[in-house]
Amino acid sequence: MAETKNLTEYYIQADPIIIPDSFEGYPLRYFNLPLHYRDDLNYVLIPYGLVQDRIEALASRIFHDLTINIPEQLICICVLKGGYRFFSDLISKIQNENRLQNNRSLPMSLEFIRTRSYINDYSSNQLEIIGLSDLNNLKNRNLLIIEDIIDTGITMVALKEQLEKFQPKTIQVVSLFTKRRKDKQCIFKPDYCGFEIPDHFIVGYALDYNEYFRDLEHICILKESGVAKYKINDN
Ligand code: HPA
Ligand code: MG
Repeated sequence: MAETKNLTEYYIQADPIIIPDSFEGYPLRYFNLPLHYRDDLNYVLIPYGLVQDRIEALASRIFHDLTINIPEQLICICVLKGGYRFFSDLISKIQNENRLQNNRSLPMSLEFIRTRSYINDYSSNQLEIIGLSDLNNLKNRNLLIIEDIIDTGITMVALKEQLEKFQPKTIQVVSLFTKRRKDKQCIFKPDYCGFEIPDHFIVGYALDYNEYFRDLEHICILKESGVAKYKINDN
């Protein structure tokens, strides 16, 4: 049955789970949350368990897509700091595939760069990319950029442009989240994505607000009072 074969081949979606604007999230009382953040949060948008399930699915899809032909070493680039947990979990789930699949394998090497553009909860125009000069031997290699969130898309466009200069063979991007912005459309679509979220500022699972909330498991939305409490006065 040819139909069944196609189904199993492309059964895991590379496109995101869409979280609609009307979704009101999960009340905090259903979750175990750190005491130091409990008063600052409004609700849980995506529980940690669902994040993990989606990452496992993405890992499986990426593994299968990239091992259809003779696999070459994949250079996985972690975009710090916000991407560190997604990177770590995605890589470990691809490693599981490597361990459990007997007829396919995907060798990987790991690189780290750092970008920063957010102050408080708005995107500043100054983008910093740190660590590009430490990347070596990207020429003719397959790159996978692993990013936490694509918001305006400006960071990813700039980052890809910088990486093109190393003349890699391919550049693919996986982002755990993309944001459906109200003001303007995001200018970048990743090859693989976990969730498309409404236009809210999210924290948790290594995504921060002024360096706070990285140490929170669930993806959450802040209360106004939480936003005010950790705001940086930059003038
Ligand atoms: N949360 C945290 N960091 C971010 C976000 C967000 O919603 N968008 C871009 N960087
Ligand atoms: Mg950040």
